[in-house]
Amino acid sequence: MKILVIHGPNLNILGNRKKEYYGKKNIEEVNRMIQFKAKSLGFKVDIFQYNCEGDIVSKLNSTLEEEYSGVIINAGAYTHYSIAIRDAIESVRVPTIEVHLSNIYGREEFRRFSMIAPVCTGQITGFGPYSYLLALEAIKYLI
Ligand code: DQA
Repeated sequence: MKILVIHGPNLNILGNRKKEYYGKKNIEEVNRMIQFKAKSLGFKVDIFQYNCEGDIVSKLNSTLEEEYSGVIINAGAYTHYSIAIRDAIESVRVPTIEVHLSNIYGREEFRRFSMIAPVCTGQITGFGPYSYLLALEAIKYLI
């Protein structure tokens, strides 16, 4: 069983971004946590980071051909306005979990709206890198 993890824009600079929201860990450290947890749950995991909306759409579209048991996506700022990513998620046929490091409901008004939430299986927000690990647990439970 393989899980697809997609990190969206600016998540490549984790560790250098507002640490009060995103923590001190860089993306390699977060990815190692994801790999470790995935292994403990019996999952393989493919992890990608894209700054461009179209790359995220193409990767989501590829799940129609590739064998994934679940998708975890932190769409970054695209969360709040990308209809293209929303449409792509709508076509994914496996559980898709929206994650955020920070609590998007405790920040600026514009972050409180998620364009993708209605088409995701569920949302995990505010637990730092642990949000990704909770999403893996959720997929394990769902499938
Ligand atoms: C984020 C929250 C978004 O509002 C923001 O644009 C990000 C990161 C998070 O993980 O908390 O880039 O998705």
